[in-house]
Amino acid sequence: MKSVATAPAKIILFGEHFVVHGTKAILAAIDKRVTVTSSFTENKTIKVNSKLGTYETSDLSSYEEVKSEFRPFIYLANKILSSNQNVGGLEITINSDIPVGVGLGSSSACCVAATASISGLFNKLSREEIINLAIKAEKTIFADTSGADPTVCTYGGIIEYPSIEKIDNTFDLNLVIANSMIPHSTKRSVEKVSKFKENNEVRFSQLCELETKLIDGIILDMKNNDAIALGLKMSENQKYLEEIQVSNDTLHDMISSLKEISLGSKITGAGDGGCIIALVKDENLDQVPTLLGKGKECFSVKIDTKGVVWETEK
Ligand code: PMV
Repeated sequence: MKSVATAPAKIILFGEHFVVHGTKAILAAIDKRVTVTSSFTENKTIKVNSKLGTYETSDLSSYEEVKSEFRPFIYLANKILSSNQNVGGLEITINSDIPVGVGLGSSSACCVAATASISGLFNKLSREEIINLAIKAEKTIFADTSGADPTVCTYGGIIEYPSIEKIDNTFDLNLVIANSMIPHSTKRSVEKVSKFKENNEVRFSQLCELETKLIDGIILDMKNNDAIALGLKMSENQKYLEEIQVSNDTLHDMISSLKEISLGSKITGAGDGGCIIALVKDENLDQVPTLLGKGKECFSVKIDTKGVVWETEK
């Protein structure tokens, strides 16, 4: 028996970092996916195969010592196997077209797809059950996760987190992602922002209020098909991210290089590397690679509306 689940990558349109401190955020699932395939094996081990390597263990009791790239899978296998008797082992294989460590939600998508895939060998879980378990799995590598990334990977579409209600999107967003090719650590960036908050309490709470106000206007901008207002708000959000110091020279230069042809652009995800997103008009799309210059990667994205998808083959 084989259980296959796929989950999408994500972008954060508005509110990264501030969401960790309780503000809303607007996220979208995008058309890059990870696929996780799980099957039973005779021997009582858990084997995880991914492009980052292979990990095999027979000790399910402790996942804390496991390298972070494999830890959520061992955690999930432990949780799911311990509530289902009389099974041997598991083989879990991950195939992904989501770039790792650049703010596109690769680890959240893996946690969501793995939860659906492994549990699918036993009982099909509801989306709500998947998200609850996937967040716990993600917490084994990043305890302070806001839960926003795994939520949008589970439900798909554009959401105003913490709501899971999809924002109606008849709006053609034309979003371009540009990858600085500098990997980042979400944990380190989030810790840095917490330090900023500690040292600048009043300003940080003002920034949270500004972020909330910005987000409050966005659904209306989308309903009104107002790309200009949306772009301006993205650039405004970038100013807040620069103030909390998660930007750097490379990201700043990338944003500046697209200034003339985009309606707005900003970091997406934790920053300190990773990706930016830009709202670009159709007629300007082909100029993006030249303007960004050598050593960057860029691609247009479409919004994924499906979220996690899973099936079991007997
Ligand atoms: O860069 P990513 O994909 O790990 O995004 C992190 C988003 C943060 O708001 C910085 C953290 C979170 O848990 O929401």
